[in-house]
Amino acid sequence: MPRASLDKDPHEVAAMFDGVASGYDRANSFMTFGFDRRWRTTTARVLDAKPGEKVLDLAAGTGVSTVEYARGGAWCLAADFSVGMLKAGLHRKVPMVAADAMCLPFADNSFDAVTISLALRNFVDTKGALAEILRVVKPGGRLVICEVSTPTFAPIRFLHRRFLLKMLTWVGSRTSSNPEAYSYLAESMLAWPDQRTLGEIIASAGWTEVEWLNLTFGVVAIHRAAKPL
Ligand SMILES: C[S@@+](CC[C@H](N)C(=O)[O-])C[C@H]1O[C@@H](n2cnc3c(N)ncnc32)[C@H](O)[C@@H]1O
Repeated sequence: MPRASLDKDPHEVAAMFDGVASGYDRANSFMTFGFDRRWRTTTARVLDAKPGEKVLDLAAGTGVSTVEYARGGAWCLAADFSVGMLKAGLHRKVPMVAADAMCLPFADNSFDAVTISLALRNFVDTKGALAEILRVVKPGGRLVICEVSTPTFAPIRFLHRRFLLKMLTWVGSRTSSNPEAYSYLAESMLAWPDQRTLGEIIASAGWTEVEWLNLTFGVVAIHRAAKPL
């Protein structure tokens, strides 16, 4: 079964997620010790999607995050380029569409907010995707990104760097149909920029009011930004 490389070739990334789709939700909860649920709830709070708003949950996978964001009454669309991931979430009562973040099939200024959880680091071109997302968000609209990050507390940062790869590979071998994919996940986490650097990339793509919130000692961070009016 395929695993992607850090070049993040879109075909390889999509094929890899197709390959893990059936066990993804379970493996994800196991791998994060159940913290994923708390991260999603906090992301939903930061997103603050209201009834009448249109929200794009980009790279939504099985839609596990989309249902959380839709709870407040907003119309939330799950988009992902892995049809396998979307199919694995078909039981969820949210609209779904196959779409590539690098070239979104939506008109300019379509959404009140776009959110991405645990997925931005898989995109082949981070800044390019952030610019494409800016295009489809209304002026004044919001961007909310939940992504792995750099622990702020030195001892946790040390343990994270030292054991993440080993731990995820071990978990993957016990829970996933494609253990190799979990080595990729760990490698992509370790190669991912810290909170401040990601904030700068977001701003360089044209977003304003960039700020972030650390969760679980900075193992994960939520970045928030707005499209200029
Ligand atoms: C780790 S999963 C996260 C899924 C979900 N957001 C969650 O919180 O569980 C990463 C997802 O990003 C998707 N993805 C990666 N690159 C993409 C792209 N360019 N366009 C759309 N989806 C993409 C993958 O197919 C995969 O479903």
